[in-house]
Amino acid sequence: MLRTEILTDLEQVCESQAFILGPKVGELEERIADFTGSKFGIGTSSGTDAQVLILMALGIGPGDAVITTPFTFFSTAGTIVRVRAKPFFVDIDPASLNLSVPKLEEFLKTECVTSESGVRTRDGFNVRAVIPVHLFGLCADLAELRRVCHQWKLSLIEDAAQALGALFPDGDRQIKAGSVGAAGFFSFYPTKNLGAFGDAGLVVTSDPDLAKKLQVMRNHGMEPKYYHEAVGGNFRMDALQAAVLLRKFGHLENWSKKRWSIAQRYQSGLAGLGIGLPVEPYHESCGWRGHIYHQFVIRTPQRDQLRAALNEQGVGTEIYYPLPLHQQRCFQDLGYRTGDFPIAEQTAKECLALPIFPELTDDEQAMVILKIREFFAR
Ligand SMILES: Cc1ncc(COP(=O)(O)O)c(C=O)c1O
Repeated sequence: MLRTEILTDLEQVCESQAFILGPKVGELEERIADFTGSKFGIGTSSGTDAQVLILMALGIGPGDAVITTPFTFFSTAGTIVRVRAKPFFVDIDPASLNLSVPKLEEFLKTECVTSESGVRTRDGFNVRAVIPVHLFGLCADLAELRRVCHQWKLSLIEDAAQALGALFPDGDRQIKAGSVGAAGFFSFYPTKNLGAFGDAGLVVTSDPDLAKKLQVMRNHGMEPKYYHEAVGGNFRMDALQAAVLLRKFGHLENWSKKRWSIAQRYQSGLAGLGIGLPVEPYHESCGWRGHIYHQFVIRTPQRDQLRAALNEQGVGTEIYYPLPLHQQRCFQDLGYRTGDFPIAEQTAKECLALPIFPELTDDEQAMVILKIREFFAR
């Protein structure tokens, strides 16, 4: 059914010959902006490109510093280096695995110098932005991040690549991932809760000036045609991807809810084994939307043995992420050392993502739980 609908939509795009941007992308931008409670959506060629685009549109570049987490997918920091700014890492919270806001404040207070022109790192970089990642589908502490960024006059950019639709409690309301910062972005990489048939991403913002810049910079800074006010790039979304995403978008809530139900069965089935299980700090006020479980990640010091045992039984698992970013070879010249971010380093040694996708059957999941219980009973 869904397959037929998508194929029909793809055929329509082919017939229209409008392959880049166009009405399908416009419709998706509106729907995602609306869904997240943001005023504008800007479709991009990937989540990575969405982040490069935001950094460029905010004028972040050489001489600037951007603070982020070392425990995330590479692109969160890779994009900062690509615009020739310098990433500074702050360790994660051991329960949520998201950027620790107390540690962020400590970094700003003890490692930075404030003057009339703003905040500078000791080595002279202008601190411009903070990029939290809503890891595995759980929002970072957005209320606290908003407060700290406001206080220190920093741009908050949300890496919501894994968290489309995740809610965060804000007083007596709930806010959606991506909508709190100056800008937020999503990835539609095929394995995401909403996945395209290739690469695609999207930026949301409620700032009209920034939205305009993002729209122009996404297309080589071109406005009007063949006149360039600024150097942007080709960060445009394909209409074929937009068509797929629009059709699948109608199922997102249901799919994310299913993921949450699967997560609940893991939570109860794996309780009492002494392994670290995902936390749901926003459940009381946000219900199942408080964690959309892009991944279900457990922690155990016996991670590698458990993974091998599960693999032997035909259970596929994955490690997100085996090496924190400050320890990556390409970032050696940032000057970090092993031991600088102990929580991220420990988590990288212990984390294991279990199978979670809407189509996972009860029997398949019961087998995974049984195999894990057998492993710990040995
Ligand atoms: C946390 C995070 N940030 C950024 C990205 C980059 O998105 P994309 O793969 O669409 O470029 C991803 C996705 O893979 C991600 O998981």
